[in-house]
Amino acid sequence: MPTLRSATASQSPAASPSPTMRSAKRRVTSPRRAAGSPDESQLSSPHKSPLAGAGSGTIGTPKLLSASPRSSRKRLYGDLVAAEKPKWNPRGKNSLCSADPAQMQAVKEALHVATVPSSGLVCRDDEQNRVLEFCKACVEQEQAGSLYVCGCPGTGKTLSINKVKESLARWADEMGMETPDALSINCTGLANAHEIFSKILEKLQTRKKAAGKLSPLQQLQTMFCHKESAPRRMLLVIVDEMDYLITRDRAVLHDLFMLTTYQFSRCILIGIANAIDLADRFLPKLESLNCKPLVVTFRAYSKDQISDIIKHRLKVLEYDVFEPMALEFCARKVAAASGDMRKALGACRSAVEVFEARLQESSDQEFRVVTFDHMDIALSKAFKSPVLDSIMCLPQHQQMVLCALANTFHHCKKKATTLGELNKSYIEICRSTQVPAVGMLEFLNMCMVLSDQGFMKLGQSKEDKLRRVILQIDISDINFAFKDNRFFQKCLQQPMF
Ligand SMILES: Nc1ncnc2c1ncn2[C@@H]1O[C@H](COP(=O)(O)OP(=O)(O)O)[C@@H](O)[C@H]1O
Ligand SMILES: [Mg+2]
Repeated sequence: MPTLRSATASQSPAASPSPTMRSAKRRVTSPRRAAGSPDESQLSSPHKSPLAGAGSGTIGTPKLLSASPRSSRKRLYGDLVAAEKPKWNPRGKNSLCSADPAQMQAVKEALHVATVPSSGLVCRDDEQNRVLEFCKACVEQEQAGSLYVCGCPGTGKTLSINKVKESLARWADEMGMETPDALSINCTGLANAHEIFSKILEKLQTRKKAAGKLSPLQQLQTMFCHKESAPRRMLLVIVDEMDYLITRDRAVLHDLFMLTTYQFSRCILIGIANAIDLADRFLPKLESLNCKPLVVTFRAYSKDQISDIIKHRLKVLEYDVFEPMALEFCARKVAAASGDMRKALGACRSAVEVFEARLQESSDQEFRVVTFDHMDIALSKAFKSPVLDSIMCLPQHQQMVLCALANTFHHCKKKATTLGELNKSYIEICRSTQVPAVGMLEFLNMCMVLSDQGFMKLGQSKEDKLRRVILQIDISDINFAFKDNRFFQKCLQQPMF
């Protein structure tokens, strides 16, 4: 049996900051840093605008923005505006009608979700600092530890933890310590939940060793139990989209977190999940096993945060692209809907496209900024697909019921089924994906919720199992909603029996 080491919150390294940690804390920068402050440059290299240099020729003679008075700019932009930016000439100097492709490209790039803001992250300083301090303490004390990050999609979890990984490596370097090894795993890419252990083992084993009959998990456990076999170097393991590791008995999650409790383990485990309630489902057991991870919750972005983040990202441009009112509108609408930053960036990009199309049609040379009206069109489009949005916002099991429905109607070309048959199809999906199925009563409740929301129609019958079920949405909407999601792709491939 492995010797378990207690790692409860009070005993975790982060709970007792060392002197070095305290001094490091003083260096922590304030959440709303002014542009170009020295603190910011410490975090990352200053970002060069894609149009820097060459851009000056295309945006024309710099002029002060006459459209928005300085006072209102100051009020809306606060300290983010270091100086007035020149008025934008989106057509460039060579064209009288169409938009300048290079400038449009630069604007869209700044707003793209895949663009990692090189000037650091705003609005997530507290969360990043908590995670970083935890990791530093583990490294300093050469002690394993685990941390659980949760929050709704688009709240900056992945981005923030990646930044922490970079900051930790930089800090270790500055302190003259051995840089921890790092392994990032996105669980949506795993063939099955247990593959997580092979990935970690692969990282730790420089040479393939004869494993005998031991599973990768057992090999890791054996490795961490013995001083001679345990790697000395700290390993930061980032497990993203951890929701996908939930198995019937949650054993994978438990075993994974338990890896940080073995006497010679040097793993710093950071699990990231979208499901807010995942913690309730697996933390109590970990607590009973004495290895409850530190929990850091990422709350949905507020209107002001969304607004700050967009403005911060747009700082790489040398001109103002949006009317302040347009950005305010976007931030307000997205914050009210979900606080999902992906949605906000998508709407801004779409507003730029609307603007681009209008530019083509107009010869008005004063037509130079994305306005409230353009944003209004973009936002209506973004929130127009309620079916797709609603599918993606459903809890996992309700999404699985929809997959079961899609499978039923797709394979059998039937128009209606019964609740009993649908339940069988759902259980089959659960079995093949190793997700514990809910009981019949809960299943019935889920179907009633789906029926109330208009996804399906639920008929009446004396016996629940015989109640008629009719899909009320297009199967293609279900397929489309899950097209980039490996887990649900698997759910949708279940043969009907
Ligand atoms: N604080 C932030 N600053 C800048 N961009 C952000 C911030 N938070 C989120 N984003 C943007 O939103 C996208 C989604 O963030 P991500 O970290 O992937 O969210 P999560 O992992 O919580 O779903 C990121 O790719 C990034 O472009
Ligand atoms: Mg993520």
